[in-house]
Amino acid sequence: MCGIIGYIGDNVEQNLIAGLEKLEYRGYDSAGMVIKRENDFEVYKSIGAVENLKNKVTRRNCDFKEGTKNVVTNNNLDNDKMKNQDDKETQTQSDFSLGIAHTRWATHGKISLENCHPHFSSQKDVALVHNGIIENFETLKNELLKQGCNFYGETDSEVVAKLIAKLDINSLRRTIKKLEGSFAIVLISKNNDNLFFAKNKSPLYVAVGESCAMVASDPSCFVGKAAEYYSLEDGEYGKISLKEVVFYDKNDKIIEKKAQNLDFRYINEEKSGYEHFMIKEIYQSRIALENIIKRYQEDEIKDILKKVKQSMFDRVYFIGCGTAYHAGLIGESFMRNSFNIDIFSSIASEFQNKNYCIDENSLCIFLSQSGETADTLSALEYCRLKGAKILTITNTEYSTMALKSDYCLPICAGQEKSVASTKAYFAQCIVLYILKKYLQGKDYIEPLKNLKKQLDFGDDNILKPLARNLSSYDKVFFIGRGNDYITAKEASLKLKEITYIFSSALASGELKHGTLALIDENVLVVVVATDEKLFNKTLNNAYEIKTRGGKLALFTSIPLDEIAREKFDYVVKINQTIQEFMPIQTILQLQKIAYFTAVIKGINPDKPRNLAKSVTVE
Ligand code: M6R
Repeated sequence: MCGIIGYIGDNVEQNLIAGLEKLEYRGYDSAGMVIKRENDFEVYKSIGAVENLKNKVTRRNCDFKEGTKNVVTNNNLDNDKMKNQDDKETQTQSDFSLGIAHTRWATHGKISLENCHPHFSSQKDVALVHNGIIENFETLKNELLKQGCNFYGETDSEVVAKLIAKLDINSLRRTIKKLEGSFAIVLISKNNDNLFFAKNKSPLYVAVGESCAMVASDPSCFVGKAAEYYSLEDGEYGKISLKEVVFYDKNDKIIEKKAQNLDFRYINEEKSGYEHFMIKEIYQSRIALENIIKRYQEDEIKDILKKVKQSMFDRVYFIGCGTAYHAGLIGESFMRNSFNIDIFSSIASEFQNKNYCIDENSLCIFLSQSGETADTLSALEYCRLKGAKILTITNTEYSTMALKSDYCLPICAGQEKSVASTKAYFAQCIVLYILKKYLQGKDYIEPLKNLKKQLDFGDDNILKPLARNLSSYDKVFFIGRGNDYITAKEASLKLKEITYIFSSALASGELKHGTLALIDENVLVVVVATDEKLFNKTLNNAYEIKTRGGKLALFTSIPLDEIAREKFDYVVKINQTIQEFMPIQTILQLQKIAYFTAVIKGINPDKPRNLAKSVTVE
């Protein structure tokens, strides 16, 4: 699961780096690039975020005396050692050239320079970047080993590179026919000026600009460079130069492909004065709400809602992973309270194991910020085969999931860069609310306008001291009842993901059935209680924790009397809205708590360890 890009044009290093920065949500364990210059390869590789690679390239540009370190050519790659080069050899040329680059989320092989892409053919005159997993790589590798081939790393991707001796369309075709699994690959050779590409089950897009040509995992890389782009289907491959692009289908026939407009709404890639994307994106929930209010009054969206309503269904499934799954739980709750039909929600990776009854009377609603999550995509394909109607609710209107769905509802949140999903959760819940209201035949715009006035991001003077205190705990539990339990789950995921504190969410009533055994003075329990009907029962569960020495923080919209107030170490007040909106109102401050705790612990919340924004492997 990685991001790949190929570029032909001027300023090739800068354009590849700019592309990698956009692709970093797909992984940031290592980054690398190769540039073809005068029939030779210049290679850069670095561990960690793209910024490290950028620094290497920039140092070389600005001060090539120092910047000569860590530049590798194909000649010294064999030794897997980064050696210094002669200054003159590595001096920058910003002329026209071509190159490929990669940002990695490690699957096969440890995080190391050896396993960092690009990878090279045995003669080192072909370079490759790969996103996906080659399932039969061990068989292929054994065959190559028998033929005397040497490997410098452990990746499946290197095996693909070693399958190619001389790069042309025939050798590319022969190679991809041997591969099982998922791949998006881009290759260059010392011997020509084309980018070669192929795609199966991993996204890949192609664009031709006025003076450049590109191939990338995400069309956002083309913004500002091209007006339209081509979306590759599984099994398709081809080559691109500045003069022409040639596409082949899976039956090896040359095909004409229809270009799509590069219509990128809601793009804003800067931190705009915020220290991290995460905190900016939490506050952007307000903008997402404004975008939704505007867009969901347009005929285009109303038509989609109408079609969903017209399709007959007697069962509804909500499916997603992580935060998107939690949004699905909110969707389930909205629907359950309004319609007398069977409604289920499931984690995408477990969906197919449950043998649900899925048929043409089922509406399967897939939630995904990226629209590329492999587990969710796999469940979507399963539901398609069963004949269900597919609705995807996503932030990425051009994504694979959007394209494979009968209907797609956008969440209009704008690009979300932080790994921790915040505004997307908020926006998904809003769209689920709209869906419910539309299916009921009720107005949704006025309640959303009211919500906009009531949004509550909390008081940092209250949240920061709580975060400071929280950062000293090794174990935190979140509890709640009803929708507050869903909020507790999402808050717990957010905290563990970016602070590395062990945390778990429980239904308040469930504590006494086991987990209470873990409570002592070293445990903090965050109590979410915003539903008047469930409030007293939840408070009683909180007191059971207090009695056992646990520390308590309460997030509530309900006024407390003095006696109750004294039981809590912290009380965070939340602005009351209509009950349906309370989960999304409450999560805003809980997201901020996780954010402040990560910052206090010195963790970059935008790039937590071991994770990637978009998880494109099952
Ligand atoms: O792109 P998706 O919404 O499909 O991603 C699903 C999860 O991987 C994602 O929500 C993940 O749980 C977040 N990192 C949580 O903050």
